[in-house]
Amino acid sequence: MAKILDVLARQVWDSRGRPTVEAEVAVKGARGRAIAPAGASTGSGEAKSVDVRQAVHSINTEIRASFTGKTLDQETLDRLLLALDGTPDKSRLGGNAIVAVSLACAHALAAAAKQPLWRLLAGKRAVAMPVPQIQIFGGGAHAHGRMDVQDFMIICTGAGSFTEALEWTAQVYQAAGARLAKRGALHGVADEGGYWPAFKSNEEALAELTGAIADAGFEPGADVGIALDIAATQLWRDGRYHLALENRALTASQLHALLLQWIERYPIVSIEDPFAEHDGEAMASFTRTAGERIQVVGDDFLVTSSQRLKEAKAIGACNAVLLKPNQAGTLTETLACWRAAQEAGYGAIVSARSGETEDVTIVHLAVGWGVPQLKVGSFARSERMAKWNEGLRIEEALAGAQLPYPARRLFRRSARAP
Ligand code: PGA
Ligand code: ZN
Repeated sequence: MAKILDVLARQVWDSRGRPTVEAEVAVKGARGRAIAPAGASTGSGEAKSVDVRQAVHSINTEIRASFTGKTLDQETLDRLLLALDGTPDKSRLGGNAIVAVSLACAHALAAAAKQPLWRLLAGKRAVAMPVPQIQIFGGGAHAHGRMDVQDFMIICTGAGSFTEALEWTAQVYQAAGARLAKRGALHGVADEGGYWPAFKSNEEALAELTGAIADAGFEPGADVGIALDIAATQLWRDGRYHLALENRALTASQLHALLLQWIERYPIVSIEDPFAEHDGEAMASFTRTAGERIQVVGDDFLVTSSQRLKEAKAIGACNAVLLKPNQAGTLTETLACWRAAQEAGYGAIVSARSGETEDVTIVHLAVGWGVPQLKVGSFARSERMAKWNEGLRIEEALAGAQLPYPARRLFRRSARAP
């Protein structure tokens, strides 16, 4: 705990050149600062952001008046934010205002304790570095729908450390770029830094990514697996999943069959949001069929809500959850969802948004809370690299004192050549 001396906010700019909220919390001799990120493919159950000028104004007036002079812990500060807002979806003060203040408080408390945030969150517990999910091709809402599937990512399942995973990723990312350039299929990079490719089908992207893993000298499956984010809510219209690139519309059971075919043909170890956010039945059915082999992740489907996670567990939908602090709103609610995931036996991935900044808080959350995976986007653009590089610094600080790196344990079942 530390006495809060002041709270202020300003408008800053994110990686898409859009305005966002930065909050600063002053304590004796130190300050904490955090910036709200923003999604493009958002779930309808997320905390609602408001106009940035309005969010900044609310922080500089209401939140400032309520927080200044208080000596409270994170949980009580977060509860105060929720009480001040008073709405179930945080639409009065705004999810963007609330998450910026909540995270800035965490940084201020860590600064007051003269500890890095990850260390403050871990307390006396030993921690491990999280396993990165790194985007190689970007599509969906992050590339004007040029590909239907939003994220084609890799997980270096055979790497022995976070540092090694990034080294391997750099090689795969370069190899993928070289393949695309050779074919004249490179259209720059998408919102999260993954290549924006001109492919004729979604499956072609899977084949090219598997090829790039091999080109870089790795064994697809054993060394490096593929993770997809279908972000299927974006594909859902009039009762069908629309694959615009392939000019076809699938029922849930046809999409289910297509994904199983992809799992058979390619070294896929994880699929996020395979069905739309409302389609719990399809999620449960897919988890029953594929969940033994691969990780089935809920993002828009679970929106970092411990309540939705418990409901998903009850019907057997998904076996892992994406944790996005700005979906939940506060740090405390994000942590509650991680605790619910642990109770339910679900995996978890702390995740960035498609609109990001130099803010690296999420890396500290993953390490400090012991969340075993981290998703930040691709291996380009400084709002992404700032986070990977922060992870390198933390792994160096842990030097020899950390728990074993969890990649092989997490993906042993699925880490095999197709
Ligand atoms: P978003 O995308 O930040 O645009 O929602 C990230 C994701 O879907 O995981
Ligand atoms: Zn997603």
